[in-house]
Amino acid sequence: MADRLNILGFAGSLRQGSLNRALLRAAQALAPEGMAIAVFDLRAVPLYDGDVEAEGDPEGVAAFKRAIAEADGVIMVTPEYNHGVPGVMKNAVDWASRPPRGAPLDGKPVGLIGASPGMTGSARGQSQLRQAFEFTNSPCMAQPELLVARAHEKFDAEGRLTDETTAKYLVRWLEAFAAFVRRQAAAGVAS
Ligand code: FNR
Repeated sequence: MADRLNILGFAGSLRQGSLNRALLRAAQALAPEGMAIAVFDLRAVPLYDGDVEAEGDPEGVAAFKRAIAEADGVIMVTPEYNHGVPGVMKNAVDWASRPPRGAPLDGKPVGLIGASPGMTGSARGQSQLRQAFEFTNSPCMAQPELLVARAHEKFDAEGRLTDETTAKYLVRWLEAFAAFVRRQAAAGVAS
């Protein structure tokens, strides 16, 4: 691992005005010294289909998997749909869990954050997504958590984070994630 941490981030919402995409942009802007966050747009990733995969990963999937493989760690920013993880996010994780040996998520440090207009701030979506990392063998940072509740009140009309408390917690979370990724690399867990 180079001194500089190259992190890949993606949000599990496709819409332009997404609060979760806005949260990811805020993370990019607030990344600590020595960490760069590149964003992958999941619009490029089609629905998982084993027949398509057998013919070779579509271009968007290949680019997505390559970006994860080349990153020191991954930040997933998930909404919550019906008390669970949205299909867009789960689908992306499913592609990145393939092939079973040598998958880009195998051993890859993961951090989860998320936002919702509701009071629980994506808690159940994050919790459910966490379970997937048992199978993908991805070390996922347990603490601190970052749940942005009432998120529609925390960003302006252009999707800029305006809530200072959330910004402070996001900075702390990013610093903790940087330390987590470095610990994983030092322990030889990261690929
Ligand atoms: C939601 N929403 C939602 N919110 C929540 O806190 N818990 C939930 O279970 C659900 N369920 C749910 C289902 C579906 C199908 C939709 C479309 C929405 C509201 C959701 O958090 C809100 O639309 C967010 O703004 C979605 O995230 P983005 O697109 O803003 O990133």
